[in-house]
Amino acid sequence: MNLSIIVPTFNEAPNVEELIRRIGAFVAPGTAEVVFVDDSTDDTPAVVRRVAASAPLPVRVIHRETATGGLGGAVLEGIAAAQARVCVVMDGDLQHPPEEIPALVGRYEQGGADVVIASRYAGGATSRGLADRTRVFVSKASVAVTRAMFPVRLRGVSDPMTGFFLIDTEAVDLRGLKPRGFKILLETLARRSVRVAEIPFDFAERTAGESKASLRQGVHFLTQLTLLRFGKMSAFAVVGGLGAVVNLAIVWALTRLGVDYIVAAVIAAEVTIIGNFVLMELFVFRDMKAEASAMWSRFAKSFGFNNAEALVRIPVMALMVETWHLSAVVATAITLVVAFIVRFVFHSLVVYAPRKPGAKSGAREFAEKIDEQAMSPGEL
Ligand code: GDD
Ligand code: MN
Repeated sequence: MNLSIIVPTFNEAPNVEELIRRIGAFVAPGTAEVVFVDDSTDDTPAVVRRVAASAPLPVRVIHRETATGGLGGAVLEGIAAAQARVCVVMDGDLQHPPEEIPALVGRYEQGGADVVIASRYAGGATSRGLADRTRVFVSKASVAVTRAMFPVRLRGVSDPMTGFFLIDTEAVDLRGLKPRGFKILLETLARRSVRVAEIPFDFAERTAGESKASLRQGVHFLTQLTLLRFGKMSAFAVVGGLGAVVNLAIVWALTRLGVDYIVAAVIAAEVTIIGNFVLMELFVFRDMKAEASAMWSRFAKSFGFNNAEALVRIPVMALMVETWHLSAVVATAITLVVAFIVRFVFHSLVVYAPRKPGAKSGAREFAEKIDEQAMSPGEL
């Protein structure tokens, strides 16, 4: 047995037969097995057993009475029960085409990778299966925030949220991981040091049944992110908060000395921006400086961004008050929260991006990525 294919299922009865048929079409006898880990309330386990009887490869179903850890827990349970050292994890709704499995295995066999990710966002891939524009936006935004929070561990990973990947279970220690909802791969990449490779794939539309992704999963995801990486972002927040206090203090002091309030505000803003940069260099992004671009270049990016942001934020806020009829306080709060996140993403992915010898600059690559997304049909 060379390969165990782990399929977590929750009410996927109408998809089981075709999934097994399509896997069976390329698997050589005796080389692979399929393990369903099921938390269904429908007849999925019975359908699996019926189809298994005539399948060209061993097919098992582990039906769990209590769905501990949800999808992530099911994946870990499947891996623990696998016969083979190498496991492929995939969804049971045919959004992950089984025909991509040989490519995953092929990449693994080339060596140098403990995890091979089937990515919806690598070059040549598509994510057309995402239900609607909102889903596309949420997915891309969460990938950006996640990568910003783990810029080193997720370097070269375009899709840390995919549910389609291969894992070498002897190279990666999965014990002690706390599966929470959907993002088991992210948990693995964030907590273990693994060598990662990617292949692009076309994320298909769901064949039958409905998605279990929900607002609740979204909340799960945010909790997971916060727990995984409270460190960097909270340090960033502390620096930002300190900056705000200093900003106020300077405005207060200067106006008391008789300086015009606009001049005072500008001086305070610039002093704060520079002070924040120094603190970020010293505390927040210290571990990333060595691999990032030169200090003056980091400063130029950070300074430019913060000035642009300050210029943009006030008209945006005014627009929100005028068109959405929000109170000025609510509008300010919303713009500050959004600005905080965007600023964090920008600093992690651009200002402190590792420079790759001979490659494009971080800013350039970021701009191209945004451009690519803006130009692709039906997105954003
Ligand atoms: N055992 C078990 N327990 N399986 C579950 C559970 C659960 O609680 N919840 C969902 N599943 C199964 C589904 O039956 C399906 O086979 C797979 O997990 C993915 O669930 P979907 O409901 O199809 O999720 P999705 O298509 O919205 O999400 C997929 O894409 C996400 C990225 O956008 C998944 O691959 C996610 O892992 C991925 O993050
Ligand atoms: Mn799905």
